[in-house]
Amino acid sequence: MSERIEADVVVVGSGAAGLTAALNLAAAGRQVLVLSKADISAGSTSWAQGGIAAVLDEGDTFESHIEDTMVAGAGLNDRRTVEYVVENAAPAIERLAALGVPFNPGETVSERWHLTREGGHSARRIVHVDDATGWAVQKALEKAALASPNIRFLAGQVAIDIITERHAVQQGFSARRAMGLYALDRESEHVRRLLARAVVLATGGASRVYRFSTNPDGSTGDGIAMAWRAGCRVSNMEFNQFHPTCLYHSQVKNFLITEAVRGEGGILRLPDGTAFMKSHDPRAELAPRDVVARAIDAEMKRLGLPHVLLDMTHLEASFIEQHFPTIVKRLRELGIDPVTQPIPVVPAAHYSCGGVLVDINGRTDLPGLYAVGEVTQSGLHGANRLASNSLLECLVFGASVADSILGSFEATPPPDEVRPWDESRVTSSDEEVVVTHNWDELRRFMWDYVGIVRTDRRLERAGHRVALLRPEIADYYGNFRVTPDLLELRNLVEVADLIVRSAQARKESRGLHYTTDYPGLADPPRDTILYPGLAG
Ligand code: FAD
Ligand code: SIN
Repeated sequence: MSERIEADVVVVGSGAAGLTAALNLAAAGRQVLVLSKADISAGSTSWAQGGIAAVLDEGDTFESHIEDTMVAGAGLNDRRTVEYVVENAAPAIERLAALGVPFNPGETVSERWHLTREGGHSARRIVHVDDATGWAVQKALEKAALASPNIRFLAGQVAIDIITERHAVQQGFSARRAMGLYALDRESEHVRRLLARAVVLATGGASRVYRFSTNPDGSTGDGIAMAWRAGCRVSNMEFNQFHPTCLYHSQVKNFLITEAVRGEGGILRLPDGTAFMKSHDPRAELAPRDVVARAIDAEMKRLGLPHVLLDMTHLEASFIEQHFPTIVKRLRELGIDPVTQPIPVVPAAHYSCGGVLVDINGRTDLPGLYAVGEVTQSGLHGANRLASNSLLECLVFGASVADSILGSFEATPPPDEVRPWDESRVTSSDEEVVVTHNWDELRRFMWDYVGIVRTDRRLERAGHRVALLRPEIADYYGNFRVTPDLLELRNLVEVADLIVRSAQARKESRGLHYTTDYPGLADPPRDTILYPGLAG
Protein backbone atom coordinates (compact mmCIF):
# COMPACT_ATOMS: atom_id res chain seq x y z
CA MET A 1 0.00 0.00 0.00
CA SER A 2 1.53 3.35 -0.99
CA GLU A 3 1.99 5.94 1.76
CA ARG A 4 -0.70 8.63 1.97
CA ILE A 5 0.09 12.12 3.25
CA GLU A 6 -2.48 14.89 3.51
CA ALA A 7 -2.19 18.67 3.87
CA ASP A 8 -4.36 21.69 3.06
CA VAL A 9 -2.24 22.59 0.02
CA VAL A 10 0.58 20.79 -1.79
CA VAL A 11 3.13 23.07 -3.45
CA VAL A 12 5.36 21.32 -5.97
CA GLY A 13 8.60 23.26 -6.09
CA SER A 14 10.76 25.08 -3.57
CA GLY A 15 12.08 27.98 -5.67
CA ALA A 16 11.00 31.62 -5.47
CA ALA A 17 7.53 30.85 -6.83
CA GLY A 18 6.72 27.87 -4.62
CA LEU A 19 8.14 29.33 -1.42
CA THR A 20 6.39 32.67 -1.90
CA ALA A 21 3.06 30.90 -2.34
CA ALA A 22 3.78 28.60 0.63
CA LEU A 23 4.74 31.46 2.96
CA ASN A 24 1.58 33.39 2.12
CA LEU A 25 -0.62 30.32 2.61
CA ALA A 26 1.10 29.43 5.86
CA ALA A 27 0.74 32.98 7.17
CA ALA A 28 -3.03 32.56 6.80
CA GLY A 29 -2.92 29.37 8.87
CA ARG A 30 -3.01 26.74 6.12
CA GLN A 31 -0.95 23.54 6.41
CA VAL A 32 1.35 23.42 3.39
CA LEU A 33 3.47 20.59 2.04
CA VAL A 34 6.36 21.80 -0.15
CA LEU A 35 7.99 19.25 -2.44
CA SER A 36 11.25 19.42 -4.31
CA LYS A 37 12.61 16.73 -6.51
CA ALA A 38 16.14 17.02 -5.21
CA ASP A 39 17.64 19.29 -2.54
CA ILE A 40 15.34 22.22 -1.67
CA SER A 41 17.81 24.79 -3.05
CA ALA A 42 18.45 23.03 -6.35
CA GLY A 43 16.12 25.00 -8.68
CA SER A 44 16.95 27.89 -11.02
CA THR A 45 16.17 30.47 -8.35
CA SER A 46 19.45 29.77 -6.55
CA TRP A 47 21.35 30.27 -9.79
CA ALA A 48 19.93 33.68 -10.70
CA GLN A 49 22.70 36.24 -10.99
CA GLY A 50 21.51 39.58 -12.34
CA GLY A 51 18.66 40.54 -10.04
CA ILE A 52 15.03 41.62 -9.88
CA ALA A 53 13.45 44.43 -11.88
CA ALA A 54 11.33 47.08 -10.13
CA VAL A 55 10.59 50.77 -10.49
CA LEU A 56 12.53 52.20 -7.55
CA ASP A 57 14.44 55.13 -9.01
CA GLU A 58 12.84 58.57 -8.81
CA GLY A 59 13.39 59.17 -12.52
CA ASP A 60 11.85 55.83 -13.52
CA THR A 61 8.13 55.16 -14.14
CA PHE A 62 5.71 52.23 -14.21
CA GLU A 63 4.90 53.22 -17.79
CA SER A 64 8.54 52.83 -18.80
CA HIS A 65 8.90 49.37 -17.19
CA ILE A 66 5.58 48.30 -18.78
CA GLU A 67 6.68 49.63 -22.17
CA ASP A 68 10.09 47.87 -22.00
CA THR A 69 8.38 44.60 -21.05
CA MET A 70 5.93 44.92 -23.95
CA VAL A 71 8.63 45.87 -26.47
CA ALA A 72 10.67 42.78 -25.51
CA GLY A 73 7.48 40.67 -25.66
CA ALA A 74 6.93 41.71 -29.30
CA GLY A 75 3.18 42.36 -29.08
CA LEU A 76 2.16 39.19 -27.25
CA ASN A 77 2.12 40.35 -23.64
CA ASP A 78 -1.17 40.71 -21.80
CA ARG A 79 -1.09 44.38 -20.82
CA ARG A 80 -3.24 43.84 -17.71
CA THR A 81 -0.81 41.20 -16.40
CA VAL A 82 2.20 43.37 -17.18
CA GLU A 83 0.67 46.32 -15.31
CA TYR A 84 -0.25 44.09 -12.37
CA VAL A 85 3.28 42.70 -12.03
CA VAL A 86 5.09 46.02 -12.56
CA GLU A 87 2.87 47.84 -10.07
CA ASN A 88 3.36 45.14 -7.44
CA ALA A 89 7.13 44.92 -7.87
CA ALA A 90 8.28 47.41 -5.23
CA PRO A 91 6.21 45.84 -2.39
CA ALA A 92 7.56 42.41 -3.40
CA ILE A 93 11.13 43.70 -3.10
CA GLU A 94 10.27 45.26 0.26
CA ARG A 95 8.99 41.88 1.51
CA LEU A 96 12.26 40.24 0.48
CA ALA A 97 14.28 42.96 2.19
CA ALA A 98 12.18 42.41 5.32
CA LEU A 99 13.05 38.70 5.15
CA GLY A 100 16.72 39.68 5.18
CA VAL A 101 17.80 39.73 1.52
CA PRO A 102 20.84 42.04 1.64
CA PHE A 103 20.33 43.99 -1.60
CA ASN A 104 23.42 46.02 -2.51
CA PRO A 105 23.07 49.53 -1.07
CA GLY A 106 22.91 52.59 -3.29
CA GLU A 107 25.96 54.66 -4.10
CA THR A 108 24.31 58.05 -3.42
CA VAL A 109 22.20 59.27 -0.48
CA SER A 110 19.04 59.38 -2.60
CA GLU A 111 19.51 55.78 -3.80
CA ARG A 112 18.41 53.18 -1.21
CA TRP A 113 19.62 50.19 -3.24
CA HIS A 114 22.10 50.00 -6.08
CA LEU A 115 20.22 49.59 -9.35
CA THR A 116 21.97 47.91 -12.24
CA ARG A 117 20.97 47.91 -15.87
CA GLU A 118 20.28 45.02 -18.24
CA GLY A 119 19.41 44.60 -21.93
CA GLY A 120 16.00 45.96 -22.99
CA HIS A 121 15.57 48.13 -19.87
CA SER A 122 15.54 51.86 -20.59
CA ALA A 123 16.42 52.71 -16.97
CA ARG A 124 18.52 51.36 -14.14
CA ARG A 125 15.97 49.27 -12.25
CA ILE A 126 17.54 45.95 -11.21
CA VAL A 127 18.08 45.38 -7.50
CA HIS A 128 20.69 42.74 -6.84
CA VAL A 129 22.94 41.06 -4.31
CA ASP A 130 26.30 41.31 -6.09
CA ASP A 131 26.06 38.79 -8.94
CA ALA A 132 24.43 36.08 -6.82
CA THR A 133 20.96 37.51 -6.23
CA GLY A 134 19.12 34.22 -6.59
CA TRP A 135 21.10 32.50 -3.88
CA ALA A 136 20.34 35.28 -1.40
CA VAL A 137 16.63 35.22 -2.31
CA GLN A 138 16.44 31.42 -2.08
CA LYS A 139 18.15 31.32 1.31
CA ALA A 140 15.96 34.08 2.78
CA LEU A 141 12.74 32.40 1.59
CA GLU A 142 13.94 29.00 2.82
CA LYS A 143 14.84 30.39 6.23
CA ALA A 144 11.38 31.92 6.62
CA ALA A 145 9.65 28.76 5.39
CA LEU A 146 11.72 26.47 7.63
CA ALA A 147 10.75 28.64 10.59
CA SER A 148 7.04 28.34 9.84
CA PRO A 149 5.17 25.68 11.83
CA ASN A 150 2.65 25.42 8.98
CA ILE A 151 5.13 24.41 6.28
CA ARG A 152 6.49 20.91 5.93
CA PHE A 153 9.27 20.29 3.40
CA LEU A 154 9.55 16.97 1.60
CA ALA A 155 12.78 16.95 -0.44
CA GLY A 156 13.70 14.21 -2.90
CA GLN A 157 10.12 13.68 -4.12
CA VAL A 158 9.62 13.46 -7.87
CA ALA A 159 6.03 14.40 -8.64
CA ILE A 160 4.70 12.08 -11.34
CA ASP A 161 1.13 13.08 -12.11
CA ILE A 162 -1.77 15.10 -10.73
CA ILE A 163 -4.40 13.10 -8.86
CA THR A 164 -7.87 13.99 -10.13
CA GLU A 165 -11.38 12.61 -9.72
CA ARG A 166 -10.34 9.93 -12.23
CA HIS A 167 -8.15 8.38 -9.53
CA ALA A 168 -10.95 8.23 -6.92
CA VAL A 169 -11.74 4.81 -5.49
CA GLN A 170 -15.42 5.46 -6.06
CA GLN A 171 -15.99 6.78 -9.55
CA GLY A 172 -18.71 9.19 -10.63
CA PHE A 173 -19.19 11.12 -7.37
CA SER A 174 -16.78 13.98 -7.82
CA ALA A 175 -16.58 16.90 -10.26
CA ARG A 176 -13.44 17.43 -12.32
CA ARG A 177 -10.69 18.72 -10.01
CA ALA A 178 -7.14 18.28 -8.70
CA MET A 179 -6.86 16.52 -5.34
CA GLY A 180 -3.13 15.94 -4.98
CA LEU A 181 -0.42 14.05 -6.79
CA TYR A 182 1.58 10.88 -6.99
CA ALA A 183 5.27 11.35 -6.20
CA LEU A 184 8.26 9.03 -6.20
CA ASP A 185 10.24 9.16 -2.96
CA ARG A 186 13.87 8.84 -4.04
CA GLU A 187 14.98 7.25 -0.79
CA SER A 188 12.41 4.48 -0.36
CA GLU A 189 11.81 4.22 -4.15
CA HIS A 190 8.07 4.02 -3.41
CA VAL A 191 5.35 6.18 -4.90
CA ARG A 192 3.37 8.22 -2.36
CA ARG A 193 -0.08 9.78 -2.58
CA LEU A 194 0.04 13.41 -1.48
CA LEU A 195 -3.47 14.74 -1.05
CA ALA A 196 -4.79 18.27 -0.64
CA ARG A 197 -7.65 20.60 -1.52
CA ALA A 198 -5.36 22.59 -3.83
CA VAL A 199 -2.17 21.80 -5.73
CA VAL A 200 0.30 24.48 -6.82
CA LEU A 201 2.75 23.71 -9.61
CA ALA A 202 5.91 25.77 -9.13
CA THR A 203 8.24 23.40 -10.94
CA GLY A 204 10.27 25.90 -13.00
CA GLY A 205 11.08 25.75 -16.69
CA ALA A 206 12.03 23.26 -19.37
CA SER A 207 15.31 24.56 -20.77
CA ARG A 208 17.07 21.25 -20.16
CA VAL A 209 15.19 19.94 -23.18
CA TYR A 210 18.11 21.52 -25.06
CA ARG A 211 21.64 20.18 -25.24
CA PHE A 212 23.21 23.43 -24.01
CA SER A 213 21.48 25.24 -21.19
CA THR A 214 22.24 27.64 -18.35
CA ASN A 215 19.78 25.76 -16.12
CA PRO A 216 20.23 23.21 -13.33
CA ASP A 217 19.51 19.55 -14.14
CA GLY A 218 15.95 19.64 -12.83
CA SER A 219 14.54 22.09 -15.43
CA THR A 220 12.85 19.32 -17.37
CA GLY A 221 9.37 20.81 -17.74
CA ASP A 222 7.73 18.38 -15.31
CA GLY A 223 4.95 20.76 -14.30
CA ILE A 224 4.10 21.62 -17.89
CA ALA A 225 3.89 17.94 -18.83
CA MET A 226 1.85 17.06 -15.71
CA ALA A 227 -0.65 19.87 -16.27
CA TRP A 228 -0.96 18.93 -19.95
CA ARG A 229 -1.63 15.30 -19.09
CA ALA A 230 -4.23 16.46 -16.55
CA GLY A 231 -6.11 18.33 -19.28
CA CYS A 232 -4.79 21.91 -19.04
CA ARG A 233 -4.01 24.13 -21.98
CA VAL A 234 -0.39 24.99 -22.64
CA SER A 235 0.66 28.13 -24.48
CA ASN A 236 3.55 29.79 -26.35
CA MET A 237 5.97 26.89 -25.98
CA GLU A 238 7.90 27.97 -29.10
CA PHE A 239 9.32 30.91 -27.14
CA ASN A 240 12.32 29.40 -25.39
CA GLN A 241 14.78 32.09 -24.49
CA PHE A 242 18.45 31.59 -25.30
CA HIS A 243 20.74 33.59 -23.05
CA PRO A 244 23.48 35.14 -25.17
CA THR A 245 26.35 34.61 -22.77
CA CYS A 246 26.91 31.21 -21.24
CA LEU A 247 30.54 30.36 -20.52
CA TYR A 248 32.14 28.26 -23.28
CA HIS A 249 34.30 25.70 -21.50
CA SER A 250 35.14 22.06 -22.11
CA GLN A 251 34.22 20.95 -18.58
CA VAL A 252 31.76 23.52 -17.24
CA LYS A 253 28.69 23.52 -19.46
CA ASN A 254 26.12 25.72 -17.73
CA PHE A 255 27.79 28.68 -16.08
CA LEU A 256 26.06 31.95 -16.90
CA ILE A 257 27.85 35.24 -17.43
CA THR A 258 25.19 37.68 -16.31
CA GLU A 259 23.67 40.21 -18.66
CA ALA A 260 24.67 42.84 -16.09
CA VAL A 261 28.24 42.45 -17.44
CA ARG A 262 27.02 43.97 -20.71
CA GLY A 263 24.84 46.38 -18.71
CA GLU A 264 27.95 47.69 -16.99
CA GLY A 265 29.96 48.09 -20.20
CA GLY A 266 31.08 44.61 -21.31
CA ILE A 267 31.59 44.36 -25.09
CA LEU A 268 31.02 41.39 -27.38
CA ARG A 269 33.94 40.79 -29.72
CA LEU A 270 35.10 38.41 -32.42
CA PRO A 271 38.42 36.61 -31.85
CA ASP A 272 40.24 39.38 -33.83
CA GLY A 273 38.88 41.99 -31.38
CA THR A 274 36.12 43.40 -33.62
CA ALA A 275 33.06 44.60 -31.67
CA PHE A 276 30.16 43.29 -33.75
CA MET A 277 26.89 44.14 -32.00
CA LYS A 278 26.46 47.64 -33.52
CA SER A 279 26.33 46.13 -36.99
CA HIS A 280 23.35 43.98 -35.88
CA ASP A 281 21.34 46.46 -33.78
CA PRO A 282 21.73 50.14 -32.85
CA ARG A 283 21.22 49.21 -29.19
CA ALA A 284 24.37 47.08 -29.49
CA GLU A 285 25.20 45.15 -26.28
CA LEU A 286 21.99 46.41 -24.63
CA ALA A 287 19.59 45.07 -27.26
CA PRO A 288 17.07 42.49 -25.92
CA ARG A 289 18.64 39.11 -25.50
CA ASP A 290 16.93 37.41 -28.47
CA VAL A 291 18.58 39.99 -30.74
CA VAL A 292 21.96 39.51 -29.06
CA ALA A 293 21.71 35.69 -29.10
CA ARG A 294 20.83 35.68 -32.81
CA ALA A 295 23.67 38.08 -33.59
CA ILE A 296 26.17 35.82 -31.81
CA ASP A 297 24.71 32.74 -33.52
CA ALA A 298 25.00 34.48 -36.92
CA GLU A 299 28.63 35.50 -36.32
CA MET A 300 29.55 32.00 -35.10
CA LYS A 301 27.94 30.44 -38.17
CA ARG A 302 29.41 33.04 -40.59
CA LEU A 303 32.98 32.54 -39.34
CA GLY A 304 32.73 28.93 -38.15
CA LEU A 305 33.56 29.92 -34.57
CA PRO A 306 33.02 27.73 -31.50
CA HIS A 307 32.32 30.88 -29.40
CA VAL A 308 32.67 34.67 -29.29
CA LEU A 309 34.26 36.81 -26.56
CA LEU A 310 32.78 39.00 -23.84
CA ASP A 311 35.31 41.64 -22.97
CA MET A 312 35.49 43.60 -19.69
CA THR A 313 39.23 44.23 -19.77
CA HIS A 314 38.71 47.98 -20.41
CA LEU A 315 36.89 48.31 -17.05
CA GLU A 316 38.68 48.97 -13.77
CA ALA A 317 39.86 45.77 -12.05
CA SER A 318 38.35 46.89 -8.73
CA PHE A 319 34.98 47.60 -10.41
CA ILE A 320 34.89 44.12 -11.97
CA GLU A 321 35.90 42.42 -8.74
CA GLN A 322 33.36 44.39 -6.70
CA HIS A 323 30.40 43.98 -9.05
CA PHE A 324 30.92 40.41 -10.20
CA PRO A 325 32.70 38.55 -7.39
CA THR A 326 31.03 35.17 -8.09
CA ILE A 327 31.89 35.26 -11.78
CA VAL A 328 35.46 36.44 -11.15
CA LYS A 329 36.04 33.70 -8.57
CA ARG A 330 34.60 30.92 -10.74
CA LEU A 331 36.45 32.04 -13.88
CA ARG A 332 39.76 32.34 -12.04
CA GLU A 333 39.26 28.79 -10.72
CA LEU A 334 38.91 27.76 -14.36
CA GLY A 335 42.07 29.62 -15.41
CA ILE A 336 40.38 32.66 -17.02
CA ASP A 337 40.97 36.07 -15.47
CA PRO A 338 38.17 38.37 -16.69
CA VAL A 339 40.13 41.43 -15.55
CA THR A 340 42.81 40.76 -18.16
CA GLN A 341 41.22 38.25 -20.55
CA PRO A 342 37.99 38.32 -22.58
CA ILE A 343 35.57 35.52 -21.63
CA PRO A 344 34.64 32.87 -24.23
CA VAL A 345 30.82 32.74 -24.44
CA VAL A 346 28.04 31.01 -26.41
CA PRO A 347 24.24 31.27 -26.32
CA ALA A 348 22.40 28.55 -24.34
CA ALA A 349 18.78 27.70 -23.54
CA HIS A 350 17.84 29.76 -20.51
CA TYR A 351 14.16 30.36 -19.92
CA SER A 352 10.77 28.96 -20.96
CA CYS A 353 8.46 31.89 -21.77
CA GLY A 354 5.63 29.49 -22.55
CA GLY A 355 3.99 27.04 -20.19
CA VAL A 356 0.76 26.21 -18.43
CA LEU A 357 -1.85 28.82 -19.28
CA VAL A 358 -2.94 30.67 -16.11
CA ASP A 359 -5.12 33.65 -15.29
CA ILE A 360 -4.04 36.56 -13.13
CA ASN A 361 -4.76 34.47 -10.01
CA GLY A 362 -2.60 31.59 -11.18
CA ARG A 363 -5.61 29.36 -11.90
CA THR A 364 -5.18 26.68 -14.57
CA ASP A 365 -7.96 24.97 -16.54
CA LEU A 366 -8.31 22.26 -13.88
CA PRO A 367 -10.19 23.36 -10.73
CA GLY A 368 -7.93 23.05 -7.70
CA LEU A 369 -4.76 23.17 -9.81
CA TYR A 370 -2.73 26.38 -9.72
CA ALA A 371 0.59 27.24 -11.31
CA VAL A 372 3.15 29.94 -10.65
CA GLY A 373 6.58 31.02 -11.86
CA GLU A 374 8.51 29.78 -14.86
CA VAL A 375 6.16 26.81 -15.35
CA THR A 376 3.41 29.22 -16.50
CA GLN A 377 2.37 31.34 -19.41
CA SER A 378 0.81 34.18 -17.47
CA GLY A 379 0.82 36.81 -20.20
CA LEU A 380 3.74 38.70 -18.63
CA HIS A 381 6.51 37.81 -21.05
CA GLY A 382 4.85 37.51 -24.45
CA ALA A 383 7.24 36.37 -27.16
CA ASN A 384 10.36 37.22 -25.16
CA ARG A 385 11.06 37.82 -21.48
CA LEU A 386 12.69 41.03 -20.40
CA ALA A 387 15.74 40.41 -18.19
CA SER A 388 15.06 40.16 -14.45
CA ASN A 389 11.28 40.04 -14.85
CA SER A 390 11.20 36.36 -13.96
CA LEU A 391 12.00 36.34 -10.26
CA LEU A 392 9.60 39.25 -10.08
CA GLU A 393 6.83 37.17 -11.64
CA CYS A 394 7.48 34.40 -9.08
CA LEU A 395 7.15 36.87 -6.19
CA VAL A 396 4.06 38.71 -7.42
CA PHE A 397 2.16 35.66 -8.67
CA GLY A 398 3.28 33.61 -5.65
CA ALA A 399 1.26 36.00 -3.50
CA SER A 400 -1.75 36.15 -5.84
CA VAL A 401 -1.97 32.35 -6.12
CA ALA A 402 -2.05 32.12 -2.33
CA ASP A 403 -4.82 34.75 -2.15
CA SER A 404 -6.80 32.90 -4.76
CA ILE A 405 -6.52 29.55 -2.92
CA LEU A 406 -7.38 31.14 0.42
CA GLY A 407 -10.43 32.81 -1.09
CA SER A 408 -11.98 29.53 -2.22
CA PHE A 409 -10.54 27.18 0.40
CA GLU A 410 -13.57 26.84 2.68
CA ALA A 411 -15.86 26.09 -0.24
CA THR A 412 -13.56 23.32 -1.56
CA PRO A 413 -14.36 19.80 -0.36
CA PRO A 414 -11.54 17.64 1.04
CA PRO A 415 -9.95 15.14 -1.34
CA ASP A 416 -11.75 11.87 -2.06
CA GLU A 417 -10.29 8.47 -1.22
CA VAL A 418 -7.98 7.77 -4.16
CA ARG A 419 -6.34 4.65 -5.54
CA PRO A 420 -2.79 3.85 -4.48
CA TRP A 421 -0.07 3.69 -7.14
CA ASP A 422 -0.26 0.35 -8.91
CA GLU A 423 3.09 -1.44 -9.32
CA SER A 424 1.66 -4.93 -9.72
CA ARG A 425 2.37 -5.16 -13.46
CA VAL A 426 5.84 -3.63 -13.70
CA THR A 427 9.35 -4.93 -13.14
CA SER A 428 12.71 -3.24 -12.57
CA SER A 429 14.40 -2.21 -15.79
CA ASP A 430 17.42 -4.15 -16.97
CA GLU A 431 18.26 -1.63 -19.70
CA GLU A 432 18.85 1.82 -18.28
CA VAL A 433 20.72 2.60 -21.53
CA VAL A 434 17.35 3.16 -23.23
CA VAL A 435 16.79 6.14 -20.94
CA THR A 436 20.26 7.66 -21.35
CA HIS A 437 20.32 7.13 -25.10
CA ASN A 438 16.90 8.69 -25.70
CA TRP A 439 17.76 11.55 -23.37
CA ASP A 440 20.90 12.45 -25.36
CA GLU A 441 19.19 12.05 -28.70
CA LEU A 442 16.27 14.27 -27.70
CA ARG A 443 18.42 17.13 -26.44
CA ARG A 444 20.67 16.98 -29.46
CA PHE A 445 17.91 17.19 -32.08
CA MET A 446 16.11 19.91 -30.11
CA TRP A 447 19.32 21.95 -30.15
CA ASP A 448 20.08 21.31 -33.84
CA TYR A 449 16.55 21.61 -35.24
CA VAL A 450 14.48 23.69 -32.81
CA GLY A 451 17.13 26.16 -31.63
CA ILE A 452 17.82 29.85 -32.19
CA VAL A 453 17.10 29.79 -35.95
CA ARG A 454 14.39 27.45 -37.27
CA THR A 455 13.07 26.30 -40.64
CA ASP A 456 10.05 24.22 -41.63
CA ARG A 457 12.33 21.36 -42.67
CA ARG A 458 14.19 21.33 -39.35
CA LEU A 459 10.94 21.39 -37.38
CA GLU A 460 9.59 18.55 -39.49
CA ARG A 461 12.72 16.49 -38.77
CA ALA A 462 12.37 17.18 -35.07
CA GLY A 463 8.68 16.22 -35.22
CA HIS A 464 9.57 12.86 -36.81
CA ARG A 465 12.06 12.11 -34.08
CA VAL A 466 9.60 13.02 -31.34
CA ALA A 467 7.07 10.69 -32.96
CA LEU A 468 9.61 7.84 -32.84
CA LEU A 469 10.66 8.46 -29.24
CA ARG A 470 7.23 8.97 -27.69
CA PRO A 471 5.88 5.43 -28.06
CA GLU A 472 9.23 3.92 -27.08
CA ILE A 473 9.32 5.97 -23.87
CA ALA A 474 5.62 5.33 -23.17
CA ASP A 475 6.21 1.62 -23.56
CA TYR A 476 9.16 1.74 -21.19
CA TYR A 477 7.11 3.76 -18.68
CA GLY A 478 4.27 1.24 -18.89
CA ASN A 479 6.44 -1.80 -18.28
CA PHE A 480 9.12 -0.80 -15.82
CA ARG A 481 9.22 0.59 -12.30
CA VAL A 482 9.58 4.38 -12.43
CA THR A 483 12.91 6.06 -11.72
CA PRO A 484 13.67 9.80 -11.49
CA ASP A 485 15.49 9.69 -14.86
CA LEU A 486 12.66 7.87 -16.60
CA LEU A 487 10.11 10.34 -15.20
CA GLU A 488 12.15 13.29 -16.44
CA LEU A 489 12.61 11.71 -19.86
CA ARG A 490 8.86 11.09 -20.12
CA ASN A 491 8.28 14.78 -19.38
CA LEU A 492 11.03 15.97 -21.70
CA VAL A 493 9.58 14.16 -24.70
CA GLU A 494 6.16 15.63 -23.88
CA VAL A 495 7.65 19.11 -23.69
CA ALA A 496 9.68 18.61 -26.89
CA ASP A 497 6.47 17.64 -28.66
CA LEU A 498 4.71 20.77 -27.34
CA ILE A 499 7.60 23.01 -28.42
CA VAL A 500 7.81 21.53 -31.92
CA ARG A 501 4.05 21.69 -32.46
CA SER A 502 3.89 25.28 -31.23
CA ALA A 503 6.83 26.28 -33.44
CA GLN A 504 5.20 24.63 -36.45
CA ALA A 505 1.96 26.50 -35.79
CA ARG A 506 3.65 29.92 -35.87
CA LYS A 507 4.06 31.02 -39.46
CA GLU A 508 6.02 34.19 -38.70
CA SER A 509 9.15 35.36 -36.88
CA ARG A 510 8.29 37.01 -33.60
CA GLY A 511 10.39 37.50 -30.48
CA LEU A 512 12.26 34.32 -29.68
CA HIS A 513 10.74 32.34 -32.53
CA TYR A 514 12.82 33.01 -35.64
CA THR A 515 12.33 31.03 -38.82
CA THR A 516 13.96 31.75 -42.17
CA ASP A 517 10.83 30.42 -43.92
CA TYR A 518 8.64 33.21 -42.46
CA PRO A 519 10.95 36.13 -41.65
CA GLY A 520 8.15 38.71 -41.28
CA LEU A 521 5.45 39.39 -38.71
CA ALA A 522 1.89 38.13 -39.08
CA ASP A 523 -1.03 40.34 -38.12
CA PRO A 524 -2.70 40.32 -35.63
CA PRO A 525 -0.32 38.92 -32.99
CA ARG A 526 -1.70 35.70 -31.50
CA ASP A 527 -0.69 33.39 -28.68
CA THR A 528 -0.18 29.76 -29.60
CA ILE A 529 -2.57 27.71 -27.48
CA LEU A 530 -2.49 23.90 -27.51
CA TYR A 531 -5.58 22.05 -26.32
CA PRO A 532 -5.10 18.66 -24.64
CA GLY A 533 -7.06 15.50 -25.11
CA LEU A 534 -7.24 13.87 -21.69
CA ALA A 535 -4.52 11.21 -21.32
CA GLY A 536 -5.77 7.83 -20.05
P1 FAD B 1 12.77 27.04 -9.77
O1 FAD B 1 13.51 27.99 -8.93
O2 FAD B 1 13.48 26.45 -10.94
O3 FAD B 1 12.31 25.87 -8.82
C1 FAD B 1 11.70 24.72 -9.33
C2 FAD B 1 11.37 23.80 -8.18
O4 FAD B 1 10.50 22.77 -8.63
C3 FAD B 1 12.58 23.10 -7.58
O5 FAD B 1 12.44 23.07 -6.18
C4 FAD B 1 12.48 21.68 -8.14
O6 FAD B 1 13.04 20.70 -7.29
C5 FAD B 1 10.97 21.52 -8.17
N1 FAD B 1 10.51 20.51 -9.11
C6 FAD B 1 10.60 20.48 -10.46
N2 FAD B 1 10.04 19.36 -10.95
C7 FAD B 1 9.58 18.66 -9.89
C8 FAD B 1 8.93 17.41 -9.72
N3 FAD B 1 8.61 16.63 -10.78
N4 FAD B 1 8.64 17.00 -8.48
C9 FAD B 1 8.94 17.74 -7.38
N5 FAD B 1 9.56 18.94 -7.48
C10 FAD B 1 9.87 19.38 -8.72
N6 FAD B 1 15.58 35.60 -13.45
C11 FAD B 1 15.57 36.86 -13.00
O7 FAD B 1 14.50 37.46 -12.84
N7 FAD B 1 16.74 37.48 -12.72
C12 FAD B 1 17.95 36.90 -12.88
O8 FAD B 1 18.98 37.48 -12.60
C13 FAD B 1 17.98 35.57 -13.37
N8 FAD B 1 19.16 34.94 -13.58
C14 FAD B 1 19.14 33.62 -13.94
C15 FAD B 1 20.36 32.95 -14.04
C16 FAD B 1 20.37 31.59 -14.32
C17 FAD B 1 21.68 30.86 -14.43
C18 FAD B 1 19.15 30.91 -14.52
C19 FAD B 1 19.15 29.44 -14.82
C20 FAD B 1 17.95 31.58 -14.45
C21 FAD B 1 17.94 32.95 -14.16
N9 FAD B 1 16.74 33.65 -14.06
C22 FAD B 1 16.74 34.94 -13.63
C23 FAD B 1 15.47 32.97 -14.22
C24 FAD B 1 14.91 32.64 -12.83
O9 FAD B 1 15.96 32.26 -11.99
C25 FAD B 1 13.90 31.52 -12.91
O10 FAD B 1 12.96 31.75 -13.92
C26 FAD B 1 13.14 31.43 -11.57
O11 FAD B 1 14.06 31.30 -10.52
C27 FAD B 1 12.19 30.25 -11.59
O12 FAD B 1 11.71 30.09 -10.29
P2 FAD B 1 10.63 28.99 -10.01
O13 FAD B 1 10.32 29.07 -8.57
O14 FAD B 1 9.54 29.09 -11.00
O15 FAD B 1 11.39 27.61 -10.33
C1 SIN C 1 21.33 37.45 -16.14
O1 SIN C 1 21.80 37.73 -15.03
O2 SIN C 1 21.84 37.73 -17.21
C2 SIN C 1 20.06 36.70 -16.17
C3 SIN C 1 18.98 37.64 -15.94
C4 SIN C 1 17.69 36.97 -16.26
O3 SIN C 1 17.66 35.85 -16.76
O4 SIN C 1 16.67 37.62 -16.02
